[in-house]
Amino acid sequence: MLSAERIMQRCDELARHSELPGGLTRVFLSPEGRAANEQVLGWMREAGMQARLDAIGNAAGRYEGERPGLPCLMLGSHLDTVRDAGRYDGMLGVISAIECVGSLHSQGKRLPFAIEVIGFGDEEGVRFGTTLLGSRAVAGIFDPNSLQMKDSRGVAMADALSESGFDPKKIPGIARKKGDVLAYAELHIEQGPVLEAEGLAVGVVTAINGFSRLRVTLRGTAGHAGTVPMNLRRDALAGAAECVLATENIARKHAEVVGTVGRIEAKPGAINVIPGEVVFTVDVRAPEDSLRKNAVSVISREIEEICRKRNLRSEIELLQEFGVTRCAPWLMAQMDRAVASQGFRVRRLPSGAGHDGMALGAIADICMLFVRCKAGISHSPLESITQEDAAAGAAVLLEFIRSFSVPR
Ligand code: GLV
Ligand code: MN
Ligand code: MN
Repeated sequence: MLSAERIMQRCDELARHSELPGGLTRVFLSPEGRAANEQVLGWMREAGMQARLDAIGNAAGRYEGERPGLPCLMLGSHLDTVRDAGRYDGMLGVISAIECVGSLHSQGKRLPFAIEVIGFGDEEGVRFGTTLLGSRAVAGIFDPNSLQMKDSRGVAMADALSESGFDPKKIPGIARKKGDVLAYAELHIEQGPVLEAEGLAVGVVTAINGFSRLRVTLRGTAGHAGTVPMNLRRDALAGAAECVLATENIARKHAEVVGTVGRIEAKPGAINVIPGEVVFTVDVRAPEDSLRKNAVSVISREIEEICRKRNLRSEIELLQEFGVTRCAPWLMAQMDRAVASQGFRVRRLPSGAGHDGMALGAIADICMLFVRCKAGISHSPLESITQEDAAAGAAVLLEFIRSFSVPR
């Protein structure tokens, strides 16, 4: 039997594994990430799965089908979080998938395909600034160059993996082949306000918006805050402030484009020193790749122009880019039917947030089910869902799994 109470309790239990007391922060390859993995592996085993950590630190469980070794329907989401996160982004999808498998197991039900559930170790990209590390490894599109990327303490990803007991050379070995995965389905909170506004518990995702992430460095001249006249300054932070507003203005010009400067660091960072160097990030997203790419080039040109006028030097690096991932029509149709079978109106909607399904799209058709969240708030400790909506999501996912079939 599905238990929404257990789903909610497990989200609460996982939220205890945090870097911050009294909040939730759990980044890739951290001690709290390891503790969360252990807990999830235990729940997978209780649900009748064989479960293990893979070579990049994903918690991976498998529930065999009518006979061992069949191709799988893959379910999952991520177990890492942003800083000061909510407890449902990612975790709800993993825990709900385990709940569904547990329900099949308790009834002794085997299906004509295996089910794999993966709790991906990194989707948010908080630690190394590059996202979807766990799901890209499973999809065979992990970029080995990212092993050299460093976290804020200067630790390279390759070293962080080795310190956690993983061998980076084994990462290519966890890549799945196309025929192994019949489809990938992910349940996730909506992270937006549409379902709540329409009084709906669940929605079927049509596509995941693409994203581009930039790192911008502006270089001016550090100097004494008391002695250098305003007209003789090359203040990198004042220049960055203009760039932040330019990003906002350019994104605002198109209703479907969003642009965010989420991180900024000024050096040397003292009250009485003119900032000589600033590094900031830019995140641009849109439902069409051409729209996004156009916004990125307009923003880049504007940054260069601002720097020219202020006599600053600029360097713009593309950290990561992912195109729009469309959900497969045949899977959306099966998800629609599962939604309707549970008595809900079918509502399709796009995803503005990124998801592990973007990576899995490289080896399989994908689909997603959104669950309503309060006031559309996510990436915040205020993230909240009701037990009734968790029940609705799990019931729809279970029905989707039970009736899943690949068209001939
Ligand atoms: C992940 O949550 C993202 O969309 O950045
Ligand atoms: Mn997130
Ligand atoms: Mn997420």
